Amino acid sequence: MELRRLVRGRLDWPRLEAVAMELAKRYDRDCVHVRFLEADNWLSTPMVLDEDLFVKVISRQNTLVHTLFTTGRNLGAFSAGTEGFFERFKTPYEMAEHELEATRQMRELGINAPEPIEAVEIDGLGVVVLEYLPEFRSLDQLDGKEARDAAVQLFDSLWTLHDAGLAHGDLRAENVLVLEGEVYFIDATNVSADAREDARAYDLASALAALEPVVGPRETIDAALSAYSTDELLAARRFLDFVAIRPDHEFDTTALKGELEKRADGTPG
Ligand SMILES: Nc1ncnc2c1ncn2[C@@H]1O[C@H](COP(=O)(O)OP(=O)(O)O)[C@@H](O)[C@H]1O
Ligand SMILES: [Mg+2]
Repeated sequence: MELRRLVRGRLDWPRLEAVAMELAKRYDRDCVHVRFLEADNWLSTPMVLDEDLFVKVISRQNTLVHTLFTTGRNLGAFSAGTEGFFERFKTPYEMAEHELEATRQMRELGINAPEPIEAVEIDGLGVVVLEYLPEFRSLDQLDGKEARDAAVQLFDSLWTLHDAGLAHGDLRAENVLVLEGEVYFIDATNVSADAREDARAYDLASALAALEPVVGPRETIDAALSAYSTDELLAARRFLDFVAIRPDHEFDTTALKGELEKRADGTPG
């Protein structure tokens, strides 16, 4: 089997069909329409049912890959001078339950996130069912004023999350959606409760990295300073190199650090 396919662990149709049929039964629907998303199935197979339910199907393979990634990320955290702080899951269902609960917690804090419906185990697979958000754009699809507004909202929501002792754990442009001018956080797989200070600093570094290509270094730091202190941004600086080695983050580390240092010195930008 091709390595990519093996690592991604895409499920074959009969297993996905069994999930769709079980969900149809649970929600009293005679038949359901299933649509697959163009996504990078590393950690789940996402599908949309009847254009109103967003379903993430997590296989044993996905859970193993998550553990592998997490180990790698924890090693990265060590390299940034702190202990690892990413959680691992034993079963697909545990991973599904975690995402459901974390999404619920975010909403309780007043952060926009899809409505959590349920987490179930079907044929050994973990299944998370959430409200389907239509017509969104992800952070990297915005520009101009919309992008700047989203930047401020992003840090505001992140601050709320951090103030409650949580961390998102996987902030990147595709996981920040904008719907009718409002910022939504999705993909709560790596949300941790009782997040340590360094988990929050890592989140902040990820948010800076996600925004820099969208609004530029100066607007990014401006927006971050509307919610965070200079000291908090300096704590996040430590994680920028670690975030930069992740293949999914493309940003100008030097420009971002330069801008941050300028502000920390009190030099007007
Ligand atoms: N509730 C939702 N409604 C509509 N689309 C969604 C929803 N949640 C996620 N998506 C889309 O599906 C993609 C994959 O979902 P995500 O939760 O990020 O899973 P993964 O762990 O595979 O990254 C997202 O990048 C987004 O485009
Ligand atoms: Mg995602």
